[in-house]
Amino acid sequence: MATTLIDNIGTLVTNDPTVGDGPLGILRDAAVVLGDGHVAWVGPAAQAPAADELHDLGGRAALPGFVDSHAHLVFGGDRAEEFAARMTGARYEAGGIRTTVAATRAASDDQLGANMARLVAEARRSGTTTVECKSGYGQSVADELRSLDVAGRQTTETTLLAAHVTPPEFAGRTDDYVRMVVEEMVPKCAPHARWIDVFCEEGAFNVEQSRAVLEAGIAAGLTPRVHGNQLSYGAGVKLAAELGAASVDHVTYTTDADIDALAGGSTVATLLPGADFCTRNKYPDARALIDAGVTVALAADCNPGTCYTTSIPFCIALAIREMHMTPEEAVWAATAGGAAALQRNDVGRIATGLRADIIALDAPSYLHLGYRPGVALVREVWQGGVRKA
Ligand code: NIG
Ligand code: FE
Repeated sequence: MATTLIDNIGTLVTNDPTVGDGPLGILRDAAVVLGDGHVAWVGPAAQAPAADELHDLGGRAALPGFVDSHAHLVFGGDRAEEFAARMTGARYEAGGIRTTVAATRAASDDQLGANMARLVAEARRSGTTTVECKSGYGQSVADELRSLDVAGRQTTETTLLAAHVTPPEFAGRTDDYVRMVVEEMVPKCAPHARWIDVFCEEGAFNVEQSRAVLEAGIAAGLTPRVHGNQLSYGAGVKLAAELGAASVDHVTYTTDADIDALAGGSTVATLLPGADFCTRNKYPDARALIDAGVTVALAADCNPGTCYTTSIPFCIALAIREMHMTPEEAVWAATAGGAAALQRNDVGRIATGLRADIIALDAPSYLHLGYRPGVALVREVWQGGVRKA
């Protein structure tokens, strides 16, 4: 087994508080040995073992690759005009999703796969080494199935989001669509997905409909996650907590009761500040969530409607500036937090035996992710021990 020693790391975020300082487990003047796709050793550079290859980081910062636990990457077309209309005063509405459903149905499998590959590569260049991907722009059994298959060729984190919006052929008959999802789509699609998701929101699915879809997914062996409380106060957060969902995402409009429900359970709150930025929404109350003890993740929510960015560094900068998260909280949320939202123990931290997903910044410290917004700071990306960027 060939090994690589990444030496001369100025500041290393391990997210392992047992080996370094603070919640990020920071080691200064550190080194990491990679072997067989995994971390073989991590510690002070002065104590590093010999390896087959030496890679000198020149005092730069390194951290775990970002774990982006919320993305919609299987789609056709874009909605630049909708964005422009929004910036001159139009409101974001769930119904805009139908534009992308039409474009996705019209696209070939190859076009969908190539578009997703382009976005995965783009995300990787800004440090994302694990990405979840939802269906949800197919909305027929055949189109949701092929969406999951396209996604599954590029990530193991595939999510059935059949209940994203009611498709045109079911217009005015949302209950009929939900029945079809429960009785036909979930059983046929479940073998191709890990997660079941639902858009619980005015203009999308109400709490009873959302519950029916999630329970069908659970019965078919999927683990639930929820789009909740993005555009208005609603039942999504409480439903997610009640069902023990892995994560509830957006969480922009919350009451004290919503925060209590999350604080009392295991559901991660995944905040998507890029979507709030691009829809001119308010931002989630990250401070209240964190101070109540809720586990918070940050994800990019790349999709053609509410947030057409793959950049986790951008979301970290927003989290710090707009949501008053500390730089440490934001970096943790985008790495270990994302791993928690995906119930993954093998990514999001740098520790012996875990996947060697490591990024290096063109900066001496992770602080620069918030301090230098909009700058392409990610200089190297190691994924499964292989240098990819
Ligand atoms: O996470 N909220 C629902 N789903 C996406 C938006 C989808 C779209 O507008 O195309 C989101 O923001
Ligand atoms: Fe989403």
